[in-house]
Amino acid sequence: MADLSVELCGIKLDNPVIPASGTFGFGAEFAELYDINVLGTFSFKGTTRQPRFGNPTPRIAECPAGMLNSVGLQNPGVEHVIAEELPRMKTYFCKPVMANVSGFSVEDYAYTCALLDAQDQIGWIELNVSCPNVHGGGMSFGTDPEAAAGVVRAVKAITKKPIIVKLSPNVTDIVAVALACEKAGADGISLINTLLGMRIDLKTRRPVLANNTGGLSGPAVFPVALRMVWQVAHAVDIPVVGMGGVSSADDMIEMMLAGATAVEVGAANLVDPYACRDIINELPETMRKYKIEKLSDIIKGANSWEKTL
Ligand code: FUM
Repeated sequence: MADLSVELCGIKLDNPVIPASGTFGFGAEFAELYDINVLGTFSFKGTTRQPRFGNPTPRIAECPAGMLNSVGLQNPGVEHVIAEELPRMKTYFCKPVMANVSGFSVEDYAYTCALLDAQDQIGWIELNVSCPNVHGGGMSFGTDPEAAAGVVRAVKAITKKPIIVKLSPNVTDIVAVALACEKAGADGISLINTLLGMRIDLKTRRPVLANNTGGLSGPAVFPVALRMVWQVAHAVDIPVVGMGGVSSADDMIEMMLAGATAVEVGAANLVDPYACRDIINELPETMRKYKIEKLSDIIKGANSWEKTL
């Protein structure tokens, strides 16, 4: 029988499929459609110290093979998440969940992470230093290796759970940021967040998004994500969670061959709410097709041309 299990920072996952933050809410709407306990885990909506209303609308723009979003980290705030969302989540999800945390200062990140670290349900904290849709926070930490490392150091000093740092692709040297985070104590790296993009409405001659710019996700970004996962996985000694345009079991396998221990699925959930369940169901047959018995055996298994020529 095909073995889909992987281990992420010391915690076993039944399979490596993880709905990405911002595309799965806190899981409740999806749990009405199927038993989400089939997932490896999921990363819940980016949570901040204070509740956030998010950016003005329009926040979404469609693009060929993808979409732009500029949600602006809309979320109910960490205290509400702990008081309301986590107890509710217990009724439909019984595995450790990944908490995605954003902030506008190092103190914000530390405050929010400390509160979430104390919650039994949380297995990992995904430190989001890469949201491109807010000013003075998010991506401004993730585009500078020292700033990213500063957040990691502060959070590691007051947490016990594995800290997985979610990186921005909007940099020239993703490896430098990943290495700085690893050196600061990160337990894992996840990548990529969205690529900064823009559309203009030809009739109004105004940007389609009220925030002017937004983050591009979907199949269009898959080759960029794969390249960055490959580069980072070959540079660091901590696990890498790959994401960016993954929408099939074939894509999952490609990401794992590039170096991903687990794989997040984002925009595909917005196209088809059953996307993650279907990928999990397709994985055994896809593994058979490529003669894979144990999925964890293929992590970083792609040979570069230098090695094979
Ligand atoms: O705008 C948003 O809420 C997006 C967040 C992210 O990409 O991290």
